[in-house]
Amino acid sequence: MRPFALKCKVNGLDMEREIPSSRSLLDFIREDLGLKGTKEGCGEGECGACLVLLDGKAVNSCLMMAVQLHGKELVTIEGLKGKDGGLHPLQKTFMEEGAVQCGFCTPGLIVASEALLRRKPDATLEDIKQELTGNLCRCTGYEKVLSAVEKARDERNA
Ligand code: FES
Ligand code: FES
Repeated sequence: MRPFALKCKVNGLDMEREIPSSRSLLDFIREDLGLKGTKEGCGEGECGACLVLLDGKAVNSCLMMAVQLHGKELVTIEGLKGKDGGLHPLQKTFMEEGAVQCGFCTPGLIVASEALLRRKPDATLEDIKQELTGNLCRCTGYEKVLSAVEKARDERNA
């Protein structure tokens, strides 16, 4: 099978690369680009560990093919930064609120939360809970995660 000539933007940088057309987006991110912050949990669209932003929308990269990235902009957890180039506000509030334990789910939770706050800057607690229903976390019990997202929302809107 002939390789596919992929053109896209990844974390702010233009990229051109030949890839097998059968490559999953998740494998492309983790194995080809070496961006290991995006996690593989279930591999079936159930856990949210593999979430990335595609043209600003949160998508499960385990359910997509890399060719679907053509002409689009991908942002992974590594590409989320604060205005000063340091930690993103959600990364800060997750740390401050103790919303990270083993951390496996954290990139997906932050990507989902960022997608929500971009779409709905005044998201309510219910909106946040609804958005994060697709993100499984075995460690935190979610309370601190919700506090962290609310805190980031409030700081963003201050
Ligand atoms: S690894 Fe993609 S949703 Fe679980
Ligand atoms: S912090 Fe361990 S799975 Fe969420």
